[in-house]
Amino acid sequence: MSSIKIIIKNPERIDVLVNKKRSLPANYIPTDLVNIEVLHKVEKAESKMLRKEAAAALTELFVVAKLGGFEFWAISGFRSYDRQLYLFKEYAKKHGEEKANRFSARPGQSEHQTGLTMDVSIPSLDYKLVEKLGETPEGKWLAYNAHIYGFIIRYPKGTEHITGYQYEPWHIRYLGKNLARKVFESKLTYDEYYSRFFGV
Ligand code: DAL
Ligand code: ZN
Repeated sequence: MSSIKIIIKNPERIDVLVNKKRSLPANYIPTDLVNIEVLHKVEKAESKMLRKEAAAALTELFVVAKLGGFEFWAISGFRSYDRQLYLFKEYAKKHGEEKANRFSARPGQSEHQTGLTMDVSIPSLDYKLVEKLGETPEGKWLAYNAHIYGFIIRYPKGTEHITGYQYEPWHIRYLGKNLARKVFESKLTYDEYYSRFFGV
């Protein structure tokens, strides 16, 4: 990845790449946010919002998972720039900036601001966002099937040197069915896929 940092010009694109080099404009709020219609335990009203297309896909994912015996709960969806600013500051106070930035994005650099990302968990993990999710039947099912419904695991195990973030088996990012399948089949992180096929 180049060391140049940019402000994203078309943040509303479904295939937008957000990372430590590519920030969303501070004032960006998607115009088509809706409340999700799936099981959820969220800390703030805005956390149960996603963009319309992603919310519909999440419903499909949760319904099919449930039919297979896997019950997911939505924990954290849309996050405004200001909310991310607050959260990052709190984590930085507690852990120091460098450590905090391994698991929490700086404001403008969180995919949650796109309204295309949801953190999910399960009752047996007490709805927590923990690495252990990846070892559960639910987490394994999610890793192999999320793409069918348009989502990818954005921060896979062992890719911190590429994505900039620790393993997050709970953080699913909507890309649409076609692109999510291609990214899944490529076995690349979205950062790598994007620079290979879309440039930069
Ligand atoms: N936990 C992810 C990296 C975020 O804060 O957006
Ligand atoms: Zn997340």
